Amino acid sequence: MSNDPIVIQHSASGAKCIAYPYGATITSFETSEKHQVLFVSQLAKRDGSKAIRGGIPLVFPQFGQPNKDMPQHGFLRCNYWTPGKIFDNESEAGCEFSLDLKNVIHGRGSDGKWSLDSSQQSGLNVTVTLVVKITSNTLSTTCHFTNTGNIPFEYQTLFHTYYKVHGSTALQPDCCNVQGFKGYQVYDQITKEHLVQDEERIIIDREVDRIYTPPASVNNANVTISTGSDRSKVSMNAFAKMDGKDIPVSCVVWNPFVDKAKAMADFGDDEYHEMICIEPGILSGKDVMEVGQRVEFTQIISVLDQV
Ligand code: BG6
Repeated sequence: MSNDPIVIQHSASGAKCIAYPYGATITSFETSEKHQVLFVSQLAKRDGSKAIRGGIPLVFPQFGQPNKDMPQHGFLRCNYWTPGKIFDNESEAGCEFSLDLKNVIHGRGSDGKWSLDSSQQSGLNVTVTLVVKITSNTLSTTCHFTNTGNIPFEYQTLFHTYYKVHGSTALQPDCCNVQGFKGYQVYDQITKEHLVQDEERIIIDREVDRIYTPPASVNNANVTISTGSDRSKVSMNAFAKMDGKDIPVSCVVWNPFVDKAKAMADFGDDEYHEMICIEPGILSGKDVMEVGQRVEFTQIISVLDQV
């Protein structure tokens, strides 16, 4: 399978995005002002031997590895997708990627789930497309999932977005922080504690691996992220619908910090200074996609004007 990068150029503005067929992983988004939004590790594999460490890997149908027969974070990020035709018009440029289950060679699981050919009309089956669109300062990604099998299934899905923190300042609270989750429920995946977020800002001062779940009245994830000593900021808005009805979107905030950075073979020992992951997702673990149902999940990243 070819893993030649797909380059999406928005001629009208000069913005540019690069995505790999492997995982349909976007690895670069440069605004019309040549501002790079995404982080990719120097040690990331781009040869299809491992999910790409950086950019926007896609997580589905599981977050982490509750099903040990399937790889961590599921099978979207470690299989080859088919890119469609690139479009480039006055208002936006983009490309659609699709993944057919019959092309999924890695990690559907050996437990009989997700193992049927898509031409068969029984068992677990899903069609997935990713639509990528850029304008001068926005990158939007929408995943469409349809349950095309004849069994309902539980699923989780995330955009595992790695933001570049300019000037290697991820540990400097004024340069790198996330705002917008005040009042959210927090589950700390390291300490296993449940808390409520009462501070305005989330900062990186240790290994951070937390799930932020919205209060009952909120469906969208909507945050502002400070991304470095250049005073750059992005806004991230994520929302999801099941057959047109809103589904609440949670969000993971992750930075591996010292020890975990050293333990990862495809991540530089000091690179935790250069990134922060903000990963919106449908995460309850109880969300079910009924037969024939369709889920649409969107993340919109906009680079805000520097002040
Ligand atoms: C995050 C998880 O989403 O992904 C972390 O919350 C995990 O627990 C991280 O370490 C990276 O996962 P992976 O599989 O890409 O190393």
